Amino acid sequence: MHDWFVNTFAPYYPYIKFIHVLAISAWAWSTSVGYYWFLRNAYISWKKNPGDPEYKRRKDWALEQFDNGAIIEHVAFPVAIVTGLFMFVIGGWGLDRPWLKWKLLILVTIFLPMEIVDIWLSHLGGKKERHRDNPGKYESLVRFHWKFFTIVTPLVGLFIPAIIFLAVVKP
Ligand code: HEM
Repeated sequence: MHDWFVNTFAPYYPYIKFIHVLAISAWAWSTSVGYYWFLRNAYISWKKNPGDPEYKRRKDWALEQFDNGAIIEHVAFPVAIVTGLFMFVIGGWGLDRPWLKWKLLILVTIFLPMEIVDIWLSHLGGKKERHRDNPGKYESLVRFHWKFFTIVTPLVGLFIPAIIFLAVVKP
């Protein structure tokens, strides 16, 4: 089975790597402008003017749009993992390679739990627009999502460049 897999897909290694890098770029950066300049701005303005209906409408709209827009990140992530696993097997890579060991450690300890919560918050039970008829639930999800952002933003800022550095420089 292993030999069949390697012989079948080895000729496509460069194409699989191309898809891997494409998926990584979509995963890493697709939400950054939306988060930093739209969502964060709308949320902080609302926090400063909690009684103003226009600031609340803007905050709700920005968060609901962000939930929808995160689909790019959440499709790209599994594509990156599957293509990475393909290359791992085809290329005969092993965990004896420090760059790959640290890369997978970052992936499993930080990005995998983070994306599981993020996918739930944006597309499943935590999707805000699903709770418009329940203002209490809606606002508690908004607070939980904002807390999530405040925890993961520094991690993302540090570990996305770190994981790409490990993959490209292979120290
Ligand atoms: C979100 C997580 C991931 C990120 C950010 C990432 C990033 C990258 C980048 C930027 C490259 C291109 C390196 C180059 O051009 O030399 C790469 C290559 C590679 N990645 Fe990933 N990757 C991720 C997940 C994975 C996973 C889950 C695996 C395997 C289990 C994996 C295995 C590989 C392998 C084997 C290569 C090819 C190395 C080469 O041919 O030079 N990656 N990765």
